[in-house]
Amino acid sequence: MAAGPYPEAGQTAETGQTAGAGIVFAPYGLVWKQQRKFSLSTLRYFGFGKLDLEPKIIEELQFVKSEFSSAVGMAFCPSHVIHNAVSNIICSMCFGKRFEYDDEEFRTMLNLIVQGMKLASNSPAMLINVIPLFQYLPFGPFKEVVKTVRDVTAFLKNIIDQHRKTMDPENPRDFVDFYLKEIDYQRHKKQNTSFSEDYLFYIIGDLFVAGTDTTSNTLLWAILFMAAHPEVQERVHKEISAVIGESRPPSLKDKLHMPFTEATIMEILRMTTVVPLAIPHMASETIDFKGYTIPKGSMVVANLWSVHRDPSMWEHPDEFNPSRFLSPDGNIVKNEAFMPFGIGKRICMGEQMAKMELFLIFSTLLQSFCFKLPEGSDAPNMAGQFGLTLSPHPFKIIPVMR
Ligand code: HEM
Repeated sequence: MAAGPYPEAGQTAETGQTAGAGIVFAPYGLVWKQQRKFSLSTLRYFGFGKLDLEPKIIEELQFVKSEFSSAVGMAFCPSHVIHNAVSNIICSMCFGKRFEYDDEEFRTMLNLIVQGMKLASNSPAMLINVIPLFQYLPFGPFKEVVKTVRDVTAFLKNIIDQHRKTMDPENPRDFVDFYLKEIDYQRHKKQNTSFSEDYLFYIIGDLFVAGTDTTSNTLLWAILFMAAHPEVQERVHKEISAVIGESRPPSLKDKLHMPFTEATIMEILRMTTVVPLAIPHMASETIDFKGYTIPKGSMVVANLWSVHRDPSMWEHPDEFNPSRFLSPDGNIVKNEAFMPFGIGKRICMGEQMAKMELFLIFSTLLQSFCFKLPEGSDAPNMAGQFGLTLSPHPFKIIPVMR
């Protein structure tokens, strides 16, 4: 077991430390409710999913635009810039700081997350959860899992330690300070509580990972889809020119007047379904469904990918067609089978924030750039690579100034 408040590097589910902690993997119940409620309301205080967050996103986008501008006319892989930018938005709320795009330590951290997402769906590597002794094998995926866990742990542990040393309870600076304050308050009241440094470690890990990989991959897909479908890109360009123009940055208030851009983002979310399998849910009652009995307490995993490609719900589901989300008079139409953020009580906690980021980042990039595939390059692989999230295979595009 961990000696200190944090899990030791390399600990596995078997040690009792990693199973069911945080929000994403916490079992449904009081602890999950308390932690989700506290996290959501504290993040809302920092603008999560609200207009207040807009200036922070726009500020980060100045750095993104500058990176894309220096790659104009060249074949360029946008992956690191997008991951770093999206991560900075959640980092600024959680840790009170952003990281420069050439910060080597942070670059390594982001690579570890991408790596971790792939390893998490690698069944041999995950044998470590069943046979923890495998973590001591000095080769293969087991060694990699242990190293990934150790490095991510050290990074997050350092952030919590620094906050403990420097926090002023009267002036909490960010999510971590608020959480530490809540721990102290509950300890002072001698309440039997789930709030602890240990739990904070998992919560910020969840927010950092869930808030970075999903949104970044959706944006990378969006850039790739625009380069692969110039006719759609041109319609988005036209809408941006008509509604926003060139002299000011896009604002969330523009979204209402930009149905084609919104429909394009929705179609990218549908086609790519970056979280193809939602997190495990549990049947709260025994139910009969299509001739099968699902007993109370069974684990149920929704296959969002199959819902988004179901031919009985979508016409020509494998075709990229943003207009499927538009009515004949050009307004957004809803489809009950559209559920990229999941469904039910465990629906994505970051949905509102993700939608803001997707609209602002996508429209800001397309306001300034046109994306092209490098001449003579093979057709891009649109199948994606499966980890916990579905990411595009590494690709290069050429940004051209509009
Ligand atoms: C395009 C971006 C995103 C997509 C497509 C997405 C999708 C999802 C999906 C499908 C789930 C599982 C829901 C279910 O099982 O029904 C989920 C859960 C979750 N997401 Fe997201 N997400 C995105 C962005 C974010 C962001 C930005 C954050 C936070 C900063 C976030 C935090 C979470 C958390 C904490 C959960 C677990 C909720 C719970 O178990 O109560 N997500 N997300």
